[in-house]
Amino acid sequence: MKHVYSGKVRDVYELDALQSAPLLMVASNRVSAFDVIMSETVPDKGAVLTAMSAYWMDKCADIVDNHLVSALPNPSILGEEMDPDFIGRAVVVKRAKMVELECIVRGYLAGSAYKEYLAYGTVHGAVLGKGLRLAAKLPEPMFCPSIKNHLGHDENISIARAREIFGYELVEELSKLSLMIYKRGQELCANGSILLADTKFEFGVVDDQLVLCDEVMTPDSSRFWDAERYVDGVEPIQFDKQPLRDYLDSLEWDKTPPPPKLPSEVLASLADRYRSVYRRITGDSVDSWLAEALERYNSRVI
Ligand SMILES: Nc1ncnc2c1ncn2[C@@H]1O[C@H](COP(=O)(O)OP(=O)(O)OP(=O)(O)O)[C@@H](O)[C@H]1O
Ligand SMILES: [Mg+2]
Repeated sequence: MKHVYSGKVRDVYELDALQSAPLLMVASNRVSAFDVIMSETVPDKGAVLTAMSAYWMDKCADIVDNHLVSALPNPSILGEEMDPDFIGRAVVVKRAKMVELECIVRGYLAGSAYKEYLAYGTVHGAVLGKGLRLAAKLPEPMFCPSIKNHLGHDENISIARAREIFGYELVEELSKLSLMIYKRGQELCANGSILLADTKFEFGVVDDQLVLCDEVMTPDSSRFWDAERYVDGVEPIQFDKQPLRDYLDSLEWDKTPPPPKLPSEVLASLADRYRSVYRRITGDSVDSWLAEALERYNSRVI
């Protein structure tokens, strides 16, 4: 398979053997913090990202089409064998022309949106009422677009600016779909006592149709908070990456490469967090996902 791209987390290959030239997207076990990729990997993280995205794409299939051709591919579908180490974290997807607008939905005030609110009283340019505290629940979930700026960093923009760049209709459609998917996510996360504070979607176009691509409502693209410990005004415990943040905060590291060496306890505790967030949300274990992936791989059934 021809390697075409590697981001911080995913590696993308071309399935040349197949006519429509779909892509094989492989979620690695890499983990990053402050935009720096750590040297060590987190066991099963790639499987959790893959399983969760597949779970959400299925749960939202009545809202929007998605890019998945096969979430559990085997050699009959791939047209060739793949590295056995990819099983459970590689999916076959339709190649989309990506919409270069990151579709963030925020239900709570955190991260860069909180910083903007503190400085200007706005969130992605929209004026909000006074007196909101860190982690406050927003009156309504907000569609908050962002784009990559010339330095390659995400830049929050207003809906008006998004319309100027991408056109009114496309932005309306992206906003409508993003809010619907977020609400579905919030409802299902509540079953596992998790608050979906915010999340980011990526859409693409396949055969002139908008489809949901990339990863969906995973710990890497979302802020998941423990609903039982949620307190307005207090920086909530980030379910998944907290052990990494705590460890990095305890060091005198200037947040630029090279990354510090991570102790195995930190990696194990991170792996536990990823597995447990998957279990709490889907009610299933990542081990059962991996077992099913192996069975499907060996079945050779299309
Ligand atoms: N169906 C698809 N067709 C084409 N490209 C896709 C599709 N789904 C996702 N992508 C792209 O594949 C890439 C996935 O890689 P990854 O998430 O690791 O990197 P990234 O988001 O570009 O960068 P980083 O996460 O390092 O900031 C993204 O660029 C994403 O936009
Ligand atoms: Mg990405």
